[in-house]
Formats: sequence, C-alpha cells, structure tokens
Amino acid sequence: MKASFDFSGAHVVVFGGTSGINLGIAEGFARAGASVCVASRDAGRVDAAVARLRGLGAAAEGAACDVRDAAAVEAAMGRFHDAFGAIDVLVSGAAGNFPAPAAGMSPNAFRAVVEIDLLGTYHVCRAGFARLRRPGASVITISAPQGQVAMALQSHVCAAKAGVDLLTRTLALEWGPLGIRVNAIVPGPIAGTEGMARLAPTPQMRARVDRSVPLGRQGRAEEIAAAALFLASDAASYVSGALLAVDGGWLAAGVPLGLGEAAPAVPPAGPGG
Ligand code: HXC
Repeated sequence: MKASFDFSGAHVVVFGGTSGINLGIAEGFARAGASVCVASRDAGRVDAAVARLRGLGAAAEGAACDVRDAAAVEAAMGRFHDAFGAIDVLVSGAAGNFPAPAAGMSPNAFRAVVEIDLLGTYHVCRAGFARLRRPGASVITISAPQGQVAMALQSHVCAAKAGVDLLTRTLALEWGPLGIRVNAIVPGPIAGTEGMARLAPTPQMRARVDRSVPLGRQGRAEEIAAAALFLASDAASYVSGALLAVDGGWLAAGVPLGLGEAAPAVPPAGPGG
C-alpha cells in the first residue's frame, strides 16, 4: 500500500511495535518519512524491528521494556525523547491474549492481561504526556472489538479493552485543551497476527472468522497502519475521542464469532457453586 501521508520530520513512538499490527503501524510511519522508536518485552524482537525500520530508510531506535513496569516505560520514553526530540505520534499497542473461561483461569492470568492492556496503556500515555509536542501531538491506543462486545473466553480481554476505550476518551477530554488528540483504533481480525493465531488456531476456525466478517475476509496490518496514519495526520485534525473500527464491518455485525464451542471444560464448581 502506497503511503498517502507525509510524516517527514515527525517523531513516532510505538509501544508493542516489534510485531504484528503494531510493527505494521511502525513500518507505515517509517515509509511515510517519520523517525520511529519501538518498544516491547523481547530484546531480540526489538533489534529485528529496528533493523527493518532502518531498512525502510527511517531513523529508528528501540528499547526492551515491559509496559507493566511504569518505571521501565518512563525510562524508555525518556530515551526516545532524547533520541529524536518531542513526540508527535504516540501509539500504545502492547497487548496480551489467550482464550480461557472466566472461572477456569487463575486470578493471575486475568491480572496479566489487564496489566498489559489497560495498565500498560496508562503507563505509556502517562510517560508520553510530558514529552508530547503540544499543540499538535496525536495519541493512538489500540483496542479491540472485545471492548464493546462480550465474547466467551475473553472476559479478561473484554474487561481490559473496555477500560482502554474509556481511558482513551477520558484522555481526549483532559488533553484536548493542550492541542493533543487521543483516539483508539479498534482492529478486527487481522491475518497473520499472534492474536488470530491464539483465537483461531486452525484453518477451519480462520475460515469461520472470514465468513463472520461482512467484507468476507480478515484485514491486513497495513490497513491498520493506514488508519493510524490518517488519525495522526492533519486530515483528522478535528478527530479526538474516537474509537475507529477498522474491522471490515465486524462490530457493525455484532462480532458474530462464537468462541464458546472451543471452550475448555469449566472446572468443577467450588465453594458456592
Ligand atoms: C489460561 C493462562 C494461559 C492460557 C497464560 N496463562 N496462558 N491461563 N490459559 N492459555 C496464565 C499463566 O498460567 C499465569 O497464571 C498467568 O496467565 C500469566 O502467565 P505468564 O506466562 O507468567 O505471563 P507472561 O509471561 O507475562 O505472559 C503474558 C500472557 C502471554 C498474556 C499470558 O500470553 C503473552 O505474553 N502474550 C503476549 C502476546 C499476545 O498475547 N499477543 C496477542 C494479542 S491480541 P498463573 O496463575 O499460572 O501464574 C489481542 C487482541 C486480539 O490482544 C483481538 C482479535 C480480534
């Protein structure tokens, strides 16, 4: 897909930007001329992503950091700011997911996803705030349809992403007066991502996903990148507090994908059951 926006001279930071949708976003901004910094937990993935971005001609830096660790996020954000100056575009996309029934996962399993998705987004936005260009910066969070529609085996993700949605809209209220726009992208099923591999691990399940999308197919990472470029561009100068579905109509159709039949057996009822 040809880049249709020019981000020459812009500084873009993407947390989670070393794989999947978020790497696609980082590459989209790199192709559009931005300098790009990426962070994720795995140092090897960080190095590989930085090499890819530099291969596209972008100035790029990376940091290995877990978004659950507020101090580590703060340190990474400081390094990114030192590298390329004020941040024009901040993307918070680190996420965790696995299918599991609410009563069949441990409290720590539920907490892990809420801490990565929701607390992680808060940590990234909070650390980014002081370093955002103002007026003019754009913050983009990455949510999921699970933030708006209940899905079996996804109680942890639904709870976390619903929180991301309202955090996003609240930051749009608080930061709008400073000239900072804050929006969420709500990707539908995107082919080749770790999320789809976890939620639809077989070809049969992926075919069912395809049939459940009004446009009849899964999306591509570059289609999410195109939405991110739009949201960060002057073309979206009056867009803030939006939850932009980029999902082939999946949410409009009510996300007609039952994961329930793939549910692991619910454990025997304990006390009170
Ligand atoms: C039940 C599970 C589990 C599973 C892990 N746990 N996998 N419980 N079913 N399949 C439990 C563990 O037993 C542990 O609980 C707790 O979760 C934390 O697991 P750890 O492995 O110690 O944590 P950690 O290494 O931090 O890994 C975090 C993770 C993991 C979320 C569990 O899956 C991860 O790193 N994911 C990152 C990549 C990812 O998921 N990407 C997809 C994002 S897609 P106990 O009690 O044993 O300590 C997405 C949206 C998709 O978010 C939308 C599609 C439309």
